[in-house]
Amino acid sequence: MDKELDWGNLSFGYIPTDYNVRCYFRDGKWGEIEVSQSEEVNLHIAATCLHYGQEIFEGLKAFRGKDGKIRIFRLEENARRLQESAKGILMEPLPEEKFREMVVKAVELNERFVPPYGSGASLYIRPIELGISAQVGVKPAKEYLFMILVTPVGPYFKTGFKPTNICIMRQYDRVAPNGTGMWKVGGNYAASLTAGEHAHELGYSAVLYLDPKEKKYLDECGPANFMAIKNGVYITPASDSILPSITNKSLMQLAEDMGIKVERRHITVDELADIDEAAAVGTAAVASPVGEIDDLDTGKKYVVSKNGEPGPITTRLYETLNAIRLGEIEDRHGWCTIV
Ligand code: PLP
Ligand code: COI
Repeated sequence: MDKELDWGNLSFGYIPTDYNVRCYFRDGKWGEIEVSQSEEVNLHIAATCLHYGQEIFEGLKAFRGKDGKIRIFRLEENARRLQESAKGILMEPLPEEKFREMVVKAVELNERFVPPYGSGASLYIRPIELGISAQVGVKPAKEYLFMILVTPVGPYFKTGFKPTNICIMRQYDRVAPNGTGMWKVGGNYAASLTAGEHAHELGYSAVLYLDPKEKKYLDECGPANFMAIKNGVYITPASDSILPSITNKSLMQLAEDMGIKVERRHITVDELADIDEAAAVGTAAVASPVGEIDDLDTGKKYVVSKNGEPGPITTRLYETLNAIRLGEIEDRHGWCTIV
C-alpha cells in the first residue's frame, strides 16, 4: 500500500495512480485491452466528443475489507447503465464482460492505491467512453475509446456523514423533460455547473432540482438521487429525468430487507414539511444526510435534522451498506466482486 498518502484525510479529488486501461472500437469491433501509464489522451481535433459532447461515464468504488480482500461494488449494474447511456446518445455499447475485465484489471494494477480498511476512504473507479472519429456534421462517431482511471477518494461533501444543507432554485434545470437526464452523459454535468456553483456560493452543498416540466416534484439532488424517510417509509422520486442510482437501488433493497416500506413516487415540495430524514445518495455521496432544505424562491426552510445528526434509519442503511462493502457482514445479494 502507498505509504505517502494520508488515507484518513482524502477529499474527493484526483490523485495520480500507476495505470489506466483503454480499449478502442474501430472497424466495427472492440480491440484488445491496453494498459497505459500516461495521464493523457491523444484526440483528433474533430472528434465528436470534443464538438458534440459524445461522452458518457460511470462511477463505482472498490473497498479494502476487514479480511484484507478488495471488493468492487455492483460493477454489473454500472456496465448495464453505461450501455444504456451509450444507446441514449448513439455511441457503441461496451460488452458487459469487457467492462468487468477492464474494471478488475484497473483495480488490480493499482492495488497499492486501494485505501486501507478502517480509513473510510475507497478507490473511485471512473470509466469513460468518447466518440473519437472526425466528424463535422452533427452525427455519431464511428470509432470510440473506452478507458478507466482510478483514484483514491474520501467523502464527496466536506461534512462527510454529517448533515449538510441543500437548496431549491427554480431558475435552473439540470436537464430537459424527455432529455438526457436518465443517462450519465457529460453534458448533463456541464449543464449543472452554474446552478451548483451558485448553490455553493450561498453555502449549500447541492441543488435539489424540481422536475423540469412542471416544477412541482422533487427530482435529482446535485450529483446524487434524493431519498427521504416519511412516517417510517423510504420515499424517493419517480422521474424520467434522474439517473437511476445504483446506490439508491441498493439502499431500497436494504430498506426492504429491514422491513421498511419503499415508495418510488412523485414527491411534492410541500411534502418536505413532513419528512423525518433525508439524504443525497450516490456512489460519491454514499448517503449524505440532509440537515435543512431551503426553498430560495418561497423563502421556506425545511429543517430535516432537528438535532444536527443524521436520522436513525439513514444511519442504519448507511452502516449496513458500508458493512457489506467492507466484508463485515454477509453479502446476501451478491453485490461485491472480490479481486
Ligand atoms: N445522480 C447523478 C446525477 C449522479 O451523477 C450520480 C452519480 O453517479 C447519481 C445520481 C448516483 O448514482 P450511483 O448511485 O449509481 O452512483
Ligand atoms: C458518482 O457518484 O459516481 C458520480 O459520478 C457523481 C459525481 C462525482 C459526478
